[in-house]
Amino acid sequence: MTTIALPITSAGIIQDRVAAAVREGLGAKRKLLPPWLFYDAAGSRLFDEITERPEYYLTRTERGIFAAHAQRMIALAAGPNGVGLEENEPARLRIVELGAGSADKTRLLLAAAVALQGSVVYEPLDVSASALEAAQERIEREIDGVTVAPRVMDYSHEFEAEFGPRPEVDLELAETRERRLVLFIGSSIGNFEPWEAAELLRMVRRGLQPGDLLLMGADRVKDEATLLAAYDDFAGVTAAFNLNVLARLNRELGADFDLESFAHRAIWNGDASRIEMHLESRVAQTVRLSGMDIDGPDFEVDFAAGETIHTENSYKYRPGQAEAMMAAAGFAPVESWTDAQGWFGVCLGRAE
Ligand code: AVI
Repeated sequence: MTTIALPITSAGIIQDRVAAAVREGLGAKRKLLPPWLFYDAAGSRLFDEITERPEYYLTRTERGIFAAHAQRMIALAAGPNGVGLEENEPARLRIVELGAGSADKTRLLLAAAVALQGSVVYEPLDVSASALEAAQERIEREIDGVTVAPRVMDYSHEFEAEFGPRPEVDLELAETRERRLVLFIGSSIGNFEPWEAAELLRMVRRGLQPGDLLLMGADRVKDEATLLAAYDDFAGVTAAFNLNVLARLNRELGADFDLESFAHRAIWNGDASRIEMHLESRVAQTVRLSGMDIDGPDFEVDFAAGETIHTENSYKYRPGQAEAMMAAAGFAPVESWTDAQGWFGVCLGRAE
């Protein structure tokens, strides 16, 4: 499961935020909906299913990179770098994850950290308390030596405020504290617009101290057929995931979207280096949403035949680009890894 840029905490507020996003997005000339709307309970289950589809190479490719290199990643992260440590003295790592859900990939890194230092504290950050509970239960059951310290938060807005800077932390404490290794994996970065991604990485950097680390996984540009298949799998799970947004609006905002009259579309936009997901109206139609404003009139949205709602961008990077983004945010490149085909990249950077 994953959650991106979700600005909400409780049920009533969720509905307000959904309504505000819908009003803005479906009221726009080029209709769009933000991708965080995908991840209600049904959408999160569908996303987990996507990661198991044969066409969706991202998850298994990144997992393969971790399986091959987790030990080295952890050793490099804990290795001496002269920040607050005696020369050659390794640091104790504390692992923070942006999002709660990359279970089996994270497990490889946690196991490598336990092998190196005997135990590790793992702090997953997610807006969904239930996703965090599930992650805690699973990880504590499966890996000895991991203490899970979940934090309910919208990391895309709150990371800096939650993690630092802490001027009250005196030098001595700063020297003895555990070093943080922040995981931002699964190519979640790709669902942010480039300017948002840059700002998010800068904010994460501001929440960390020199010597802390960021390990980021980012999907790479590759042949169009492979990219398109990953976002339009044969079994139709990605189509169901995309259409679930409309089902969610039916459930939560009293909308009357007829799911049969919308089609899932995945497009490769080479100029922008991104896969786009859209929902295309098969016919001219008007959709009514009766639950947006209890006292006000229904919200109506007209669609021309063939008109689309743009629901997601998934950016793909060229070799070196993710490292450059991290460097621009203040993380000096330490090492990068890829798979045999060069389909997916993982890079480690150290906060300067
Ligand atoms: C969560 N995120 C990295 C996925 C991606 O590949 O962009 C979301 C997704 N959308 C369709 N399939 C998967």
